[in-house]
Amino acid sequence: MTMAKTRFDLTGRVVIVTGGGSGIGKVYSTRLAEAGARVLIADLKREDSERTAAALAGAPGEALAVATDVSDEAATMRMAEAAVNKWGRIDGLVNNAGLMSTLTRRPWHEIPVAEWDRVMEVNLRGMFLCCRAVYGQMKKQRSGSIVNISSQSVLEGTPKRLHYRTSKAGVIGLTRVLAREVGADGIRVNTITPGLTLSDTQVASSDPAHLADTAKGRALERPQVPDDLVGAVMFLLSDASAFITGQLLNVDGGKSMH
Ligand SMILES: NC(=O)c1ccc[n+]([C@@H]2O[C@H](COP(=O)([O-])OP(=O)(O)OC[C@H]3O[C@@H](n4cnc5c(N)ncnc54)[C@H](O)[C@@H]3O)[C@@H](O)[C@H]2O)c1
Repeated sequence: MTMAKTRFDLTGRVVIVTGGGSGIGKVYSTRLAEAGARVLIADLKREDSERTAAALAGAPGEALAVATDVSDEAATMRMAEAAVNKWGRIDGLVNNAGLMSTLTRRPWHEIPVAEWDRVMEVNLRGMFLCCRAVYGQMKKQRSGSIVNISSQSVLEGTPKRLHYRTSKAGVIGLTRVLAREVGADGIRVNTITPGLTLSDTQVASSDPAHLADTAKGRALERPQVPDDLVGAVMFLLSDASAFITGQLLNVDGGKSMH
């Protein structure tokens, strides 16, 4: 393989995808296994993770389902241990799990306090816990790439779901600070901000009129699908991005010119 190709190659890489059993995460898990990676699918929903892993049985890579609640510290430790026990290392973590499609779009002052707290617990504390769970192994290896999924709506200040968007703004801060703290250990941390994406869960939970509008204002005026995000995730996991850390890569068809 030429050096140009090696830099993008993910064959044999051990990657944890949180929320990897359904929605966009399922597409990340699938494409990574197709690219030859060994993928640990960590989703709250056991059946979804197991079904996704089973469907990848014939892929060039491998897949393992580990039911995980990212907001539970012990569960995130078990998730990381499962990857190390099976494959001996952890090369990548895609922090994709989040509370989004299940949240009602409503004015900010109507958000129940308990719902606000749960969103922070999953979307922010969960990300912190997952980063912490893989840190020891990545530090030992002196290598690793963490990809944190935020949202383009933070760049726009899109109304409704204030708790969700606030948590996703926090992801950008978490990425920047963590990138500086773990750079000396050889670990990279970056953020992707997806535009509104037609994941199966997003489609099921949204008003069709709202979804029909989403292409408007994009330089590339068409709906965004989960596969539009895969290249950015794979690039940030691969050695092709070896000198990129603490950055935000916006993938929205050119709606926000970040
Ligand atoms: N779809 C979009 O338009 C869009 C846009 C911007 C950002 N995002 C982000 O991309 C990611 C995936 O989006 P999606 O459309 O697939 O969303 P989704 O809500 O359908 O999927 C989230 C996934 O996370 C899992 N999950 C939820 N709580 C969990 C927990 N406590 N522990 C482990 N797993 C848990 C769910 O089971 C699901 O598989 C989310 O972080 C979302 O915020 C999505």
